[in-house]
Amino acid sequence: MPGLLLGDEAPNFEADTTHGPIRFHDFLGDSWGILFSHPRDFTPVCTTELGRAAKLAPEFSKRNVKMIALSIDSVQDHLSWCKDINAYNGDQPAEKLPFPIIADKNRELAVKLGMLDPDELDKDGMPLTARVVFVFGPDKKLKLSILYPATTGRNFDEILRVVDSLQLTAYKKVATPVDWKPGDSVMVVPSLPEEEAKKLFPKGIFTKELPSGKKYLRYTPQPE
Ligand code: BEZ
Repeated sequence: MPGLLLGDEAPNFEADTTHGPIRFHDFLGDSWGILFSHPRDFTPVCTTELGRAAKLAPEFSKRNVKMIALSIDSVQDHLSWCKDINAYNGDQPAEKLPFPIIADKNRELAVKLGMLDPDELDKDGMPLTARVVFVFGPDKKLKLSILYPATTGRNFDEILRVVDSLQLTAYKKVATPVDWKPGDSVMVVPSLPEEEAKKLFPKGIFTKELPSGKKYLRYTPQPE
């Protein structure tokens, strides 16, 4: 199945959305972008995910990340579903969310982007769209991809956390360790020589002693 790999450029597809027709590269502009897919409109897990995504829209906007969702059904279905999603959030049942939802009625885009879940079929036996998260950088290249089956809802706190890591590591020569949260110490990347690392990280480097004697576990406070 075709799909997207890390480093691939986002396809510049045209699509109908709840905010009108888009061309993907124009939609992204110079921003970061997140595209998250859904199996079907009017389904329970998707409703909770989109409700949470709508609530987190200001957080993504603060990080200069443009959000866009995709689901199989038509724009008309999406608009009607948005009312339910807003009501689920305890808001007025408006037809819009703070981000567009792409209508992929014939699954063309889901196939092109490698998003189908072969285990979840609709009433006609056609595979539904899986829960994919693609994060694109301002260069429109894929920086992160997460793939969940239709039956497992995503954790949007984790998605925000990985955006923070992607943005930090895009601009600084650091990597984020297990369970990292913004503000925690980070690791100096292994390829950076010690003398250069000392200059780049004036807050200091702490190297953990290891049985191998190799000095690869190098921490530094999160750089500004
Ligand atoms: C849901 O969003 O609840 C869902 C969609 C397809 C398969 C299973 C669950």
